[in-house]
Amino acid sequence: MKELVLLTGASSGIGYEMAKHLAAQQIDLVLVARSVDKLNALKRELEQHYANSVHVFQQDLSEVDGAVSLYEAVTKQGLTVTALVNNAGSGVYGNFSDTDLDEELRMIQLNVTSVVALTKLFLQDMLVHKRGRIMNIASLLSFLPFPYYSVYSATKSFVLAFTETLAAELEGTGVIVTALCPGPVDTAFNTDAMWKTNAYKANKPVPAKEVARQGVALLLKGKGKKIVGFNNWFISNLPRITPDGIMMNIKKNLASQQ
Ligand SMILES: NC(=O)c1ccc[n+]([C@@H]2O[C@H](COP(=O)([O-])OP(=O)(O)OC[C@H]3O[C@@H](n4cnc5c(N)ncnc54)[C@H](OP(=O)(O)O)[C@@H]3O)[C@@H](O)[C@H]2O)c1
Repeated sequence: MKELVLLTGASSGIGYEMAKHLAAQQIDLVLVARSVDKLNALKRELEQHYANSVHVFQQDLSEVDGAVSLYEAVTKQGLTVTALVNNAGSGVYGNFSDTDLDEELRMIQLNVTSVVALTKLFLQDMLVHKRGRIMNIASLLSFLPFPYYSVYSATKSFVLAFTETLAAELEGTGVIVTALCPGPVDTAFNTDAMWKTNAYKANKPVPAKEVARQGVALLLKGKGKKIVGFNNWFISNLPRITPDGIMMNIKKNLASQQ
């Protein structure tokens, strides 16, 4: 069966770069996002440069029925997805008492609920074929929940917990589930307010291309979780050796603006 990778959030940032990286290896793609013009432009570029086929699906995955609609649309076209990358995600930064509830509920739908639903749906087909790969994009904040990113951090802790437990359940089935955990990445994900935090001064963002390169390697050949960069691996382990109160003060300072 020919490899077919479905990438959510392929219109920009890490997903866009992963699409280019996978296409360069002649892998067929299903690209998903809301910005269909950007996806179609990428499809044209990839099909022109590489001999692979690229399918585009416009879908808002922050909608309650978004994941099911996407799965139905993909299967209706007779496409068999051999690898799923749950990359689409959004972040909300600010005092929880001030942030917008609707924005946060849509983020939970996108970062958590749609990830669970897409995984459940595409996994069934992978189990039939006794083969498949699922990679979820978690975060450094999965290990280090940050103040002012309270709901976002919780969504990414969920993604990591879900990925690691599911990977264990699926051992021996032929389906491998992995988590990519980037620290700060130079993408449109970060708002002006986020760029002004101490964290971005202390921990330089990694180019999306480099994160994508490591993500594609994990997706195609890796196992377990991959924290992008030694610096971030070290930071992710700090809570193991630092008392909770001190750790939370450090994180609060990093997540604050100067
Ligand atoms: N950038 C960082 O510092 C960082 C760090 C750690 C983890 N991450 C994670 O990395 C992943 C990719 O983010 P990125 O940094 O590449 O950000 P990005 O450049 O903003 O890309 C986000 C992608 O998700 C798609 N998306 C957003 N909302 C969507 C929706 N409602 N339905 C469907 N697709 C949607 C966007 O496309 P449309 O707008 O066209 O829909 C876009 O393609 C996210 O899960 C993020 O949490 C990022």
